Amino acid sequence: MTVVAIDGPSGAGKGTIARRVATELGYHFLDSGAVYRAAALGCVEAGIDLADEKASAAAVKAMDIRFLPQDADSGLVDTSRVLLGTHDITARLRSEVAADSASRLAVLPSVREVLLPIQREFLKPPGLVADGRDMGTVVFPTARIKIFMTASAGIRAKRRLEQLKDHGIDAKLESLVQEIAERDNRDANRKHAPMKEAEDAIHIDTTSLDIEASVALVIDHVRQTLSGNKKCPDGEITSC
Ligand code: DC
Repeated sequence: MTVVAIDGPSGAGKGTIARRVATELGYHFLDSGAVYRAAALGCVEAGIDLADEKASAAAVKAMDIRFLPQDADSGLVDTSRVLLGTHDITARLRSEVAADSASRLAVLPSVREVLLPIQREFLKPPGLVADGRDMGTVVFPTARIKIFMTASAGIRAKRRLEQLKDHGIDAKLESLVQEIAERDNRDANRKHAPMKEAEDAIHIDTTSLDIEASVALVIDHVRQTLSGNKKCPDGEITSC
């Protein structure tokens, strides 16, 4: 099964691009940030101290987090809608509170361990596009295609501002620049599964690329990589 792993800092465009690539390829889609955000919101709502690793991991383990696809008839799984128990928390996942608590929860190895199988469950035929921080290094280390996507700090903050506005959330550019830098620093320097480029990843800088051009670049890379491979006995093109 083919996995396209897209990692990188927030605002590099990987979420939007990964989703579009998944749709074009007809693959399942995992926004692993949504998994961390959901777990973090669950902890915050339960009043758990995110610095308490034992309590956080136990709370996350007991949580009923469910992911519903955009189009239930497509037969594809994705992370478009997120339920915590009976509550639809999809919209709240986009808040800065969710982003910040997710980054803080994500430093805890025992929480990452609980969330690992949840993420791996998304891998089903014919393939998966997964975006996050450790898709190519930890969650799907044998992924056929690994991409590390970046963009300048300034453009990432501007994109984040637009994204928040689209969700009806008010924010200031200066404070976003600072918050993003703080989160990047925490994500890249944590001890366990830090955000880093896999050795076998290709690097894409989207600073001066729009979504269309970025999607085209990724699709082209995927097709070229896959066409260099033999066909598996079942006719699926992978690295078998
Ligand atoms: O991609 P995002 O901004 O929605 O992710 C929110 C936080 O979740 C991010 O700051 C770090 C954490 N995260 C992680 O540690 N590993 C992942 N694979 C995805 C997200």
